[in-house]
Amino acid sequence: MTKPTLIPLLNLAPVVPVVVIERVADAVPLARALVDGGLPLIEVTLRTAAALDALRAIAAEVEGAVAGAGTVTSPAQMEDAIDAGASFLVSPGVTPDLLAAFRGSPVPVMAGCATPSEAMRLAEAEFEVLKFFPAEVAGGVAALKAFAGPFPELKFCPTGGISPANVADYLALPNVVAVGGSWVAPQSLIRSGDFARIRALAGEASRLNNTSAVA
Ligand code: 3PG
Repeated sequence: MTKPTLIPLLNLAPVVPVVVIERVADAVPLARALVDGGLPLIEVTLRTAAALDALRAIAAEVEGAVAGAGTVTSPAQMEDAIDAGASFLVSPGVTPDLLAAFRGSPVPVMAGCATPSEAMRLAEAEFEVLKFFPAEVAGGVAALKAFAGPFPELKFCPTGGISPANVADYLALPNVVAVGGSWVAPQSLIRSGDFARIRALAGEASRLNNTSAVA
């Protein structure tokens, strides 16, 4: 089987919105706002009872959206996410069982790491782009600069603590393909149904300069 590839997805936009959906009814208008704003790649975190149905609704109904599952922490969740139509999977880290399951995934996987040893383990498993999580807590821009020394071939998508205040610093790094974050679709705006504001925030994020998108 040819390994599914993540890079074309991450090249769609500089920012991957990380969303927590509590009501299935919010899923479609939220995804439409993000797509209309220019952020088609959407990570629906599997942290709520509504998450899988939300993912299913976005995958089925929102033209232009590329919806994936985030916070995948077990092989069972991976299967559920794929059944719901996930186009990609994101995990905060891996266990031996999860790594084994990911190797057989029919969709691209972005697995998480926070340390050199974890990054090396994922590189050994031939992941193309690694999630660097929790980015700000794990050393932020300085850590990613340091990783470029011993790991010149590794590419990262940092997530965790990224905001309008620091996003440009991450996107300026040659080893950063895209960043993930919830600031473009915060739970407060989803709860209040302010999809116009989410569309505006997505628009700002989609126009960020990403010098390191991979050809
Ligand atoms: C997460 O898993 O919650 C993501 O890393 C998003 O983090 P953020 O809310 O700090 O953007």
